[in-house]
Amino acid sequence: MLPAAGFGTRFLPATKAIPKEVLPLVDRPIIQYAVEEAVASGIEQIIIVISTGRSAIEDHFDSAPTLERWLEDRGDIEMLRQIRRISETGTIAFVHQKEQLGLGHAVLMAKDLVGDEPFAVLLSDDVMLNPGGTPVTQQLIDQYTAHRGSTIALQRVDPSEVSRYGIVQPIHQEGRLVEIRDLVEKPAVGEAPSDLAVLGRYVLSPKIFDLLESTSRGAGGEIQLTDAITALMVEQPVFGYQFDGVRHDAGTRIGWLKANIAMALESDDADEVRAYIRSLDLRD
Ligand code: UTP
Repeated sequence: MLPAAGFGTRFLPATKAIPKEVLPLVDRPIIQYAVEEAVASGIEQIIIVISTGRSAIEDHFDSAPTLERWLEDRGDIEMLRQIRRISETGTIAFVHQKEQLGLGHAVLMAKDLVGDEPFAVLLSDDVMLNPGGTPVTQQLIDQYTAHRGSTIALQRVDPSEVSRYGIVQPIHQEGRLVEIRDLVEKPAVGEAPSDLAVLGRYVLSPKIFDLLESTSRGAGGEIQLTDAITALMVEQPVFGYQFDGVRHDAGTRIGWLKANIAMALESDDADEVRAYIRSLDLRD
């Protein structure tokens, strides 16, 4: 499940008419990386939660017969193949969130489609790359399967940055796996229970839906996924996994700029980008 119905206020005015999830990273919309990661992790049914009246995400994954014909006429077979591949990726269902009541509420919108099965939540503005290795979502699925417990993606952050994240209080840690006692949303620097931050990948037990239904509005008047995960810990073990891979935060203007530069330096255009950066006057 990919929640993509937020207002994206940190990225206004770019996100006034379009969701941040369709802003491009190098050559494709942010959300496409997460869809590709889900498919590479063996997920066959994808649910994208979108906000009513904003159809750009749905349009991106739909077929585009006029464009396809035009590319075919021009003989641009490589681009035609790429465009067709997008609309043929997995089975994508779209669910509407009519009111922006928070991430927890967006997840709840997919309850009937998910049913009584464990499921993954991917926040696509956290772009997770692990070239040549196991996709991050697959790593969490493997942990869920091995330990029969909800598993969330963790990464160590600089202690000065803890107030930007949900931070976990570990019970114990074995290698990359951490059993979690508690989760504190955006703690003050110096009050964080650890430096292990929750990032945008979760594999959750369907029990979370019952808890989301009884979760009242928390910080910012929103139904918080974090609050429901904290409630889940009372009933079932919840694990965190320090995943193998690189994360880019593409949900803010500066994060998106940095992600574009870093990913362009890994792309086919790397030589030209490197030469361009070298040509800039980088003195203060
Ligand atoms: P964020 O906390 O990043 O919120 O949501 P946002 O609205 O997207 O962005 P800012 O903070 O205002 O700049 C985390 C994820 O949850 C989705 C977002 O689309 C994003 O993928 N979300 C959030 C929803 O789908 N619905 C909501 O009501 C809130």
